[in-house]
Amino acid sequence: MLEKITKIKEEVEQILNKVENLNELEQIKAKFIGKKGEITILFKELKNFDKEQIKVFGQKLNELKDFTENKVTELREKFQQKQESNISFDFTLPGRNYIIGSKHLIIQTLDDIKSIFKKLGFSVYEGPEIESDFNNFEALNFPPDHPARDMQDTFFVSDKFLLRTHTSPVQIRVMQENEPPIRAIMPGKVFRNEAISARSYCLFHQLEGLAVDTDITFAELKGTLVHFAKEFYGSSLKYRFRPSFFPFTEPSAEMDITCYLCGGKGCRVCKGSGWLEILGCGMVDPNVFKSVNYDSEKYVGYAFGMGIERIALLKYGITDIRILFDNDFRFLNQF
Ligand code: DAH
Repeated sequence: MLEKITKIKEEVEQILNKVENLNELEQIKAKFIGKKGEITILFKELKNFDKEQIKVFGQKLNELKDFTENKVTELREKFQQKQESNISFDFTLPGRNYIIGSKHLIIQTLDDIKSIFKKLGFSVYEGPEIESDFNNFEALNFPPDHPARDMQDTFFVSDKFLLRTHTSPVQIRVMQENEPPIRAIMPGKVFRNEAISARSYCLFHQLEGLAVDTDITFAELKGTLVHFAKEFYGSSLKYRFRPSFFPFTEPSAEMDITCYLCGGKGCRVCKGSGWLEILGCGMVDPNVFKSVNYDSEKYVGYAFGMGIERIALLKYGITDIRILFDNDFRFLNQF
């Protein structure tokens, strides 16, 4: 019996030194201490010996069993650790793709426009999206029941408050809070109760501009806007100013640039004229100065307003405004 025990111990030591993986280890464990394992069988044979022998052999056998079990547990832990560390360093796995966010085309366009005007010394102001009827219309020289109010279909919140239909009311806030000289741009969202189509949406963005001082001229307004348009669309840009009407400016004008699609020949996008309108502008009407208690004999000013979606559509040749609000990655990723 003792010989057998010694022999098995040597065998166990030898075999366990060579084992290479968990699978082999479990097989070896079964071979020695499984139900029909060699050590288990020796335990069963003990009953053939007398009491004294059983005591001696039993002790030796228990030592052998403990030795084998401890060795197996030790190796099992080693293999398991190795397996885990292999998993966390599996360089063959495909990498994870991170989706990197980017600025929406409208925000990019606004940033570009803002940086052009900031370099000219304009500061940026923002006003609230819910405005008083006074700031949105009355102070801007739209008297109650004036037909000019029909130019903009309004979402009313109450009798006296509404979702601003343009960023022009921020001019009023800037003048109420500051004394001239003023050079300010005012970006933000505006809302109109219009049917949604390829050309108009119930929500869009505008950027308003205002300059007030004692010696401002229409020539300065033109120079500023031409500089902006050439910086934004490129220096070869062709432009023109057309007389127009806005209640809060006198005289008023609209600025056109040559059509991006036909280059001025006339096509479907520019409706044959070769020109596309990009903004409205003019000299601040004295009535507007009166509404903010500015001395209209002393101060002159100019104002302008542009639709950001329109500016972006023209720059990138996009034909449907709705695509700017769909949040389709296939579109957004292109910018
Ligand atoms: N508020 C006008 C609109 O929404 C745009 C505009 C035109 C603003 C002329 C101005 C301006 O400041 O002088 O249609």
